[in-house]
Amino acid sequence: MPARTFPQGFLWGAATSAMQVEGGGAGNDWAEWEQEPGRIHDGSRVGDGCGWWAGRAEDDLALAASLGHNAHRLSLEWSRLEPEPGRFDDAAFARYAQILDALARLRLRAVVTLNHFALPRWAAAQGGWAGEAMVARFARYAAECARRLGSKVALFATLNEPSVLALVGYGLGHWPPGKTNLAEGCRALANMLRAHAAAREAMRTAAPHALVGLVLNAPLLDPARPRSVLDRAAAAAQDFFMTGAIVHALQTGLLVPPLLSARALVPGLRGSLDWLGVNYYGRYEVQFDPAAPALFRHVQRGSIKSGRSDWGQVAPRGLTRQLVRLSALRVPLYVTENGVRDEADLIRPRYLVDHVAAVHDALRSGADVRGYFHWSLIDNFELAEGWSSKFGLIELDRRTGRRTVRESARVFERICRANALPD
Ligand code: GAL
Repeated sequence: MPARTFPQGFLWGAATSAMQVEGGGAGNDWAEWEQEPGRIHDGSRVGDGCGWWAGRAEDDLALAASLGHNAHRLSLEWSRLEPEPGRFDDAAFARYAQILDALARLRLRAVVTLNHFALPRWAAAQGGWAGEAMVARFARYAAECARRLGSKVALFATLNEPSVLALVGYGLGHWPPGKTNLAEGCRALANMLRAHAAAREAMRTAAPHALVGLVLNAPLLDPARPRSVLDRAAAAAQDFFMTGAIVHALQTGLLVPPLLSARALVPGLRGSLDWLGVNYYGRYEVQFDPAAPALFRHVQRGSIKSGRSDWGQVAPRGLTRQLVRLSALRVPLYVTENGVRDEADLIRPRYLVDHVAAVHDALRSGADVRGYFHWSLIDNFELAEGWSSKFGLIELDRRTGRRTVRESARVFERICRANALPD
């Protein structure tokens, strides 16, 4: 008898995003961004990605099914589906329908994010998320997706990690649109939450049975010196921006400062979740530092890092803590991303097992967790990191296109097949 069994029907799988695996999309803001010198740290380009748009999606998803997965999280590329404002592309919808049909044949439940960071160029040119006009545009796109693809999708997510995009794209300028204005980041985050609420309403009209959620990034942010009031305040402020403000908005329907200068009620935001996705990578120790640009530094030891990115210290208990905390929203929770940059697959097997155990701990504490998706299925274009940060359960040789199943994928397979963490 396995020690730690998961509820029946628990979803096991991996996550990907359109821009990171499809290749060949020239219509989004990342296609322009990667051309600018220095934007992609290793100088690489997305190129033909993992070849998913051209036909490899089906092979990789078949590989996922053969590795015991029963679900997959993917995203749709807005710039393909709506190449010009208000003009929807039938051929692009047909290609996604084909991929979703393949998932159904493979008995993989489809979890579909409508927008995972990349914006159509036309939307970016009109100010992106910093402008309120995006709210209605996104709702129109979301309704079209629900109408055309809703019958093939188990769970829809509107947006991926709004606070990360607001911070990294509009506050720090490391991703498109490359703005370095935190106030604009707050405006962008407020508009993304408005867009989520408007999209959810429009989707439920277009496809009444659609289950619509939102995906949050919920890192664990601890004060570096627990007795320091300033460290505690810095950690709390950061947590509020990343997670707390969104949770509050979803609970009350209110956007509060610093997201807006004065609080405002957003129609439809309260109760706008059928489920919540939680992305969790690691833990940060936040130290107040008046000399640092944002008044704090991350000082934890043993972080998973590349030259410029920091995914935090490996700390599975943080996942338990966040899942228990987010239970306050009273909707089913799914771990929609969790993973580690590890080309040699030295850390990933243990990381995976320990985080699945952390999910089980959350279940035991009463959290209603219904699935776990590892980031990622296959090595892919890791945003500003380019191709050199490797998160895949499957290794990709970009030169030959060859796929090699990593040891961690086998470890995960045993978990998926047993629906349990075997002793
Ligand atoms: C997440 C993001 C993914 C992936 C991952 C690893 O924040 O949603 O697209 O890049 O981080 O860095």
